[in-house]
Amino acid sequence: MISLLESFKTKKKSGHRLASLTAYDYPMGRLLDGLGLDFILVGDSLGMVILGHADTTSVTMDDMQYHTAAVARGVSQTPLIADLPIHALDTPELAVENARQLLRAGAVAVKAEGGREVLPAIQSILSEGMPVMGHLGMLPQRVREEGGYRMKGKLPAQAEEIRLDALALDAAGVFAIVLELVSPPLAIQISKAISAPTIGIGSGPDCDGQILVTHDLLGLFPWFTPGFVKPKVQLADQIENAVSEFVAGIREGSEKPDSEILP
Ligand code: KIV
Repeated sequence: MISLLESFKTKKKSGHRLASLTAYDYPMGRLLDGLGLDFILVGDSLGMVILGHADTTSVTMDDMQYHTAAVARGVSQTPLIADLPIHALDTPELAVENARQLLRAGAVAVKAEGGREVLPAIQSILSEGMPVMGHLGMLPQRVREEGGYRMKGKLPAQAEEIRLDALALDAAGVFAIVLELVSPPLAIQISKAISAPTIGIGSGPDCDGQILVTHDLLGLFPWFTPGFVKPKVQLADQIENAVSEFVAGIREGSEKPDSEILP
């Protein structure tokens, strides 16, 4: 069977631009499956858009396993990737055990935030035959230390660190690298320098692919939409309209539930 590493590198070589979205539950997994996405990510962004936390720093392995298993029940055609949450890579042994648990829950690969500082943990997972996607640039699991979501790599020294991280992850054998809020010129430079495809989010249009949080694309989290997202639809408005219509219909008596009783 062709490995994720080979298939993603082949896609990059052929100029195929990868498209990906997140899913956190069974219906969204099932709705997204088979729509041509190159992979579906159970992101730890679920801490914010599903669990209502301010950031991803309180997401646990239990949360990730629970949501990965739910999405996996709805996905049969698209590679499903699950995020290793904060502290999941604290030691190489822990990283291997956590990756194994996410694969047992139904993912085919894991995503790990960080560069050379987590390389031993990533290498351990890879050496056990489990595919890993990297994640560089703005690292949401470190948002508290960093004091906010800011573009990375505008200054030469920081750009060089991110570039070296990308080269190290590529050499280690990750099958793709998410570049989050990386300055677009640096994202282009990295995309040209490595063999694995880069998957951008807020990093300009010229990565090898793009990923978005599905709730942002569909207008399902109206309380905050990142500036780089152009929602395709406003589902929160449609929910509001449908529910208001239902409530008004009940009050006026025009909304009549079907009285037919099943045999
Ligand atoms: O947690 C997440 O959903 C992510 C992506 C948006 C890249 O890491």
